[in-house]
Amino acid sequence: MGAVEGRVALVTGAARGQGRAHALALAAEGADIIVTDLCADIATVPYSLGTAAELAETVALVEATGQRCLSMPADIRDTAGIGLVVEAGIEAFGQIDICVANAGVTGYGKFHELDDDTWNDMIDVDLTGTFKTIRAVLPHMLDRRYGRIIATSSMAGRMGNANLAHYVAAKWGVIGMVKSLAMEVANKGITVNAIAPAAVDTAMLHNDAMYKLFCPDMDAPTREDVTPRYQAMNRLGVAWMDPEEVSRAVLFVAADAASSMTGQVIEVSLGSSAGTQ
Ligand SMILES: NC(=O)c1ccc[n+]([C@@H]2O[C@H](COP(=O)([O-])OP(=O)(O)OC[C@H]3O[C@@H](n4cnc5c(N)ncnc54)[C@H](O)[C@@H]3O)[C@@H](O)[C@H]2O)c1
Repeated sequence: MGAVEGRVALVTGAARGQGRAHALALAAEGADIIVTDLCADIATVPYSLGTAAELAETVALVEATGQRCLSMPADIRDTAGIGLVVEAGIEAFGQIDICVANAGVTGYGKFHELDDDTWNDMIDVDLTGTFKTIRAVLPHMLDRRYGRIIATSSMAGRMGNANLAHYVAAKWGVIGMVKSLAMEVANKGITVNAIAPAAVDTAMLHNDAMYKLFCPDMDAPTREDVTPRYQAMNRLGVAWMDPEEVSRAVLFVAADAASSMTGQVIEVSLGSSAGTQ
């Protein structure tokens, strides 16, 4: 029997990257899956986001595991839109047991050069969108007195990062929100945890804008150019990990058995936090 057999999981940002990996990992352990993604770009985000074709590919991959998959594009910043996804998911599968609020964006800029739109979009997606996703599903979980809520923060939510103040602020915010909600619902059968990955091998890292952030001294840095700079950022000397590695942590707290873990931050950190408390 799979770790989440008979459960239903909602995964945001599931067109690609970690969201897709989480959807597939949960399906492989017996859950039916509801996937959503913006499937459009955001003007202040300096790289392309997931597409409708990629979201459809995630659906096909989930269905290939033998599990059911419902897909509906939505912007997590849109209260009505994410509400419709939750409604459709409950209508289709009767319940939502697991919420993986994973969708997010990044970007960079010197503190004084972050304009209002760039700051606001980052907070709107990474913090407020995560809040709206969880808020949309919470009443249903409270009614059923069961829930596993998992929000994606980042190791950037555990420390400071130069040129990423807006992203760092949003990801610290996710942790504060998770811990507060965990206390509110502690005696209601619902756990709430945050996942804090270090560098993960996804399109969020692998784009010209991020390469330039890590190699400001180069004109047109490549994946090969950034590799040693990422390797230098953690104890393992590994540039980045596969999304599936993060999915294992998600699965751990998504399981029925993880009823004692709540309000926690699960770091998948490549050892980058080994020297801290
Ligand atoms: N890649 C990393 O190194 C890394 C490290 C730590 C944390 N994270 C976090 O992990 C999560 C997943 O990122 P990823 O690495 O898979 O990157 P990714 O860019 O491949 O995936 C993010 C997905 O979220 C979707 N999305 C963005 N804004 C959205 C919105 N407003 N509404 C709905 N969907 C939206 C995108 O379209 C994309 O498909 C993010 O929250 C990110 O901040 C990433």
